[in-house]
Parts: sequence; structure tokens; C-alpha cells
Amino acid sequence: MSGHAMSGFDAPVRRWQDIPGWFQWRSAQEEAVAHFGDGARFVEVGCYLGKSICSLAEAVRVGGRDIAILGVDTAQGSGPEGRGATNAHGPAVEHGGGTFAGTLHRNVISCGLADSVQLLISDSVAAARLFDDESFAWIHIDARHDYPSVCADIAAWAPKVRRGGWLSGDDYDDYQWPGVVGAVSDALPDAQRWWSTQWRWIKP
Ligand SMILES: C[S@@+](CC[C@H](N)C(=O)[O-])C[C@H]1O[C@@H](n2cnc3c(N)ncnc32)[C@H](O)[C@@H]1O
Repeated sequence: MSGHAMSGFDAPVRRWQDIPGWFQWRSAQEEAVAHFGDGARFVEVGCYLGKSICSLAEAVRVGGRDIAILGVDTAQGSGPEGRGATNAHGPAVEHGGGTFAGTLHRNVISCGLADSVQLLISDSVAAARLFDDESFAWIHIDARHDYPSVCADIAAWAPKVRRGGWLSGDDYDDYQWPGVVGAVSDALPDAQRWWSTQWRWIKP
């Protein structure tokens, strides 16, 4: 959150590290890029201002892979959530007059990744309905973190993962985000903790 105050939403962006956000799971992205080969398709559900998806696209580029990357976000923020009912994305939504879609898109372009990342401004569940089952190698969920929302995201996107592919998510933290841990435990009992605060389910 301090990143917002320091840089502002209109501050120049040249690389993903310049983008405001809380992203810290680069190792998971690097593992996915190394694991999946050319022709794979990845989805990130919940992009905010693009920090994590621009990192992913850069990791794909550095890895020399031909992997399509789709980002899905309402660009309207998650609203108040978490222990303090913090509206973490609210300032960015307000800054854009009700949407941060322009800032997200600007950041992707500014990182030189417009050819690597496709953005879909949509609700998560509505977006999932657009795609065939088993059409993605890796889908990462980082949208709203309450129990019903994570359950709905898992139900919508799990069928879209191909066999041997990964469904994962951020903020697997029982203290900060009990809804995430509860939803994953109930919907995907075979899921495992992955890296520091991620969860991952490998589709049989
Ligand atoms: C935690 S942020 C994503 C952070 C980003 N992955 C990163 O690490 O830089 C959560 C995002 O989910 C989006 N979101 C919340 N509910 C959503 C929904 N139902 N469908 C799509 N996006 C949603 C919010 O707009 C917000 O941008």
C-alpha cells in the first residue's frame, strides 16, 4: 500500500518493479515458465495494476518460451476485505473514475509487453465461461479473497485447467486470509502449499 503513496498511479513505468502492488511470488512464475513448454496458455485472475502479470510476461520472455498470457480483472477492485476491511484498490479505482483498466493497460504497454499479455476486463466467473474446458496449462487466482468468492473462482476455473496443469492462488495465509485457506481446503483437498504463501492443485 505504501507503493501507492510513493509513486502515484501516473508515475512512469518501464518495468514490472515500477508498478504499485504487493506481488512477491516471482519464484512460482519462474517454476511455471520452466515447467510448461511452448504453446501453453496461462491465466492470471486478478491483475490489479499489472505488477504480477508483467513479471510473468517478462519471465516468459527471459525463458525464451512461446506462452500466451491472459489477464482477467474487473478493474473495479475487490472492495473492503481482510481483517481490517481494507479497500486496498479503492484509490486506484477512484483515480480512474471508477476503473483502473486504463492504468493496467498503460502499465502493460509501458513495460513493452502489449504483444505478450492479453487483458480481459471482466468478472472472473463470467470470463471463465468464455473458454473451453482443459484449455489452460496454468491458472492463477488472485482476485477477491473471501470464502464464497474463492470457491466460485475455483469452481469456474478448475475445469479450464488441462490434465497435468496447475490451478493455484495467492495469499494462502490462515491468519490474514482464512477465506482463501478454507475455500481451497474444502474445494480442493489435494491442493498443497506452494512457495511461501501460494497454494497449488495439480490436475490429475
Ligand atoms: C490482490 S489484487 C491482484 C494483485 C495482482 N495479482 C498482483 O499481484 O499484482 C485483486 C484483484 O482482483 C480483482 N477482482 C476482484 N474481484 C474480481 C472478480 N470477481 N473478477 C475479476 N477480478 C476481480 C480486483 O479488481 C483486483 O484488481
